[in-house]
Amino acid sequence: MLITMDEFTIQETRKFPQATGELSALLRDIGLAGKIINKNVRKAGLSDILGQHGATNVQGEEQMKLDVFANDTLINILKNSTDCAGIASEENDEHLCYEDTYSANSKYVVLFDPLDGSSNIDVNASIGTIFSIYRRVSPLGQPCTKEDFLQPGNKLMAAGYIIYGSSTMMVYATRMSVNGFTLEPSIGEFCLSHPNITLPQNGKIYSLNQGNTNKYSEGMQNFLTYCMESKKEEGRPYTHRYIGSMVADLHRTLIKGGIFIYPADKSNPKGKLRLQYECNPMTFIVEAAGGTGSDGQGNILDIVPTELHQRTPIFIGSKNMVAKALEFVQDKVTA
Ligand code: AHG
Ligand code: MN
Ligand code: MN
Repeated sequence: MLITMDEFTIQETRKFPQATGELSALLRDIGLAGKIINKNVRKAGLSDILGQHGATNVQGEEQMKLDVFANDTLINILKNSTDCAGIASEENDEHLCYEDTYSANSKYVVLFDPLDGSSNIDVNASIGTIFSIYRRVSPLGQPCTKEDFLQPGNKLMAAGYIIYGSSTMMVYATRMSVNGFTLEPSIGEFCLSHPNITLPQNGKIYSLNQGNTNKYSEGMQNFLTYCMESKKEEGRPYTHRYIGSMVADLHRTLIKGGIFIYPADKSNPKGKLRLQYECNPMTFIVEAAGGTGSDGQGNILDIVPTELHQRTPIFIGSKNMVAKALEFVQDKVTA
């Protein structure tokens, strides 16, 4: 029997007598945005929507039209919902407060990367939307503030992603569990397909942009050598996969295990990926599934953000593989 995401979320929140249903409503709103973005992703090759938008975002990267569409869709749906006080987006310079009375009284704020992996749109590979939900720290009844968006990942209430892959899936995590829902196009609903996702402690796949090897630190290069000199008999049956969409690479890691790395390198001394829009939500999901995420020094979720668009190196995935990579980058071993 099909269980829709709404039904599932409502059943889960009923376990908490104090729950008001606001979080379930917010997840439903994000799911709705996902369905609308999905509709446009599916026809991207057919319509004028494919191609450069001509603008650059705050990080100086070119925006694709679908980035803009996905961003506008999320902003408008969350504005019309009664459960979101404001948003921050990878595509906007500043956070945005919804100032109507309902929104000012809402206790949650949402951060998102509206379209992750956008360089993959033109080649028809998987892309996604990543979101984070925090309980605001500013007083209810007033517009939200920047502090609401600068909370560490360990304060997340929920996080998830929608992957526009060979099927469309929404995966979300609370502290209790991670569950995946596949879009059933005939009824237009996300239906529970991957209950209680658990990440294997060991994995076979390492995932990173190996083309950057010459820019990596010595420790990182040694770890790569260790992976490439894969020896089955030593419990190292490694293989390499890299899609170049974090959401797609992390979805695979979540299901099959492995490690995904975007380290600091000579061109990106702080790494490339964004703490609040990509690394925190993904680490929260991976941790809830039994894995871990580090910036090379400590847990990603413990970093207290100082800017909305800050970047961080990331080592994330199966616990044992992350621990092994960290031994190398922290110079505890040599190849
Ligand atoms: P976005 O499309 O939101 O800008 O993110 C792209 C990110 C991420 O999805 C991916 O893991 C990474 O960029 C790939 O970077 P490289 O091309 O440098 O490997
Ligand atoms: Mn991204
Ligand atoms: Mn993006």
